[in-house]
Amino acid sequence: MRMRKMKNLVPRMEKCAALRIENPESLKGNWRSLKEDAKALWVEVGCGKGKFTAETAQANPDVLLIAVERCREAMVVAMEKARDMGLTNVFFIDMDVEKIEEIFAGFEIDRLFINFPDPWPRKKNAKRRLTHRGFLDKYCRVVKGEIHYKTDNAPLFEFSLEEFAACGLEVKNCTRNLHEHGIVGIMTGYEEKFHALGTPINRCEVLCKPFELPKEEKKSQ
Ligand SMILES: C[S@@+](CC[C@H](N)C(=O)[O-])C[C@H]1O[C@@H](n2cnc3c(N)ncnc32)[C@H](O)[C@@H]1O
Repeated sequence: MRMRKMKNLVPRMEKCAALRIENPESLKGNWRSLKEDAKALWVEVGCGKGKFTAETAQANPDVLLIAVERCREAMVVAMEKARDMGLTNVFFIDMDVEKIEEIFAGFEIDRLFINFPDPWPRKKNAKRRLTHRGFLDKYCRVVKGEIHYKTDNAPLFEFSLEEFAACGLEVKNCTRNLHEHGIVGIMTGYEEKFHALGTPINRCEVLCKPFELPKEEKKSQ
């Protein structure tokens, strides 16, 4: 997400300090200590301004939700939303998801959300896509449940399905038009915008399991 620099970013971040995890490595293997009675640990990568994050946490008070976002200008908006809603089961990490294995222990996460990731359309940038096999390899070391994935970008969705297949990961509940018969589930900020423009939303669930990283084939997108 490209956002203008905020002059008051630091004071705004400070006002949400209770929701921000500054040293996430220290909680590796022990995230549930943030909410001892949590029935599950869910992680959202690239939460943006946090509409989905806050509404998901509110709708699932028995779950501990951790949102990862590398753009602090977006993350502060997400934290303010969660704070203003009085949520106590959601926390934020200002980090690149590339480092996910540094902060979560093996199979510590029950569910991972990837919502409307940046498409990186040029082939030379394919490795940066959050559903590239390099990222899938990392996720499958820390997630024991499912990845829930949504995007408006049809070519990115097809690329992602190819990556899941290449890694031997099972996909279920796959749709290329999630809201065809009415709104399904909690919408993200991007999703609301694209849905309003008439863009079909792609969604699927991926069952995580450890796999041997396959070699890159030259032809992929
Ligand atoms: C297109 S926006 C979508 C935001 C939100 N998920 C939504 O659907 O409204 C993608 C977000 O992912 C974040 N992002 C992209 N790559 C990331 C990475 N490697 N680690 C953490 N966040 C990332 C961006 O900063 C941006 O906020």
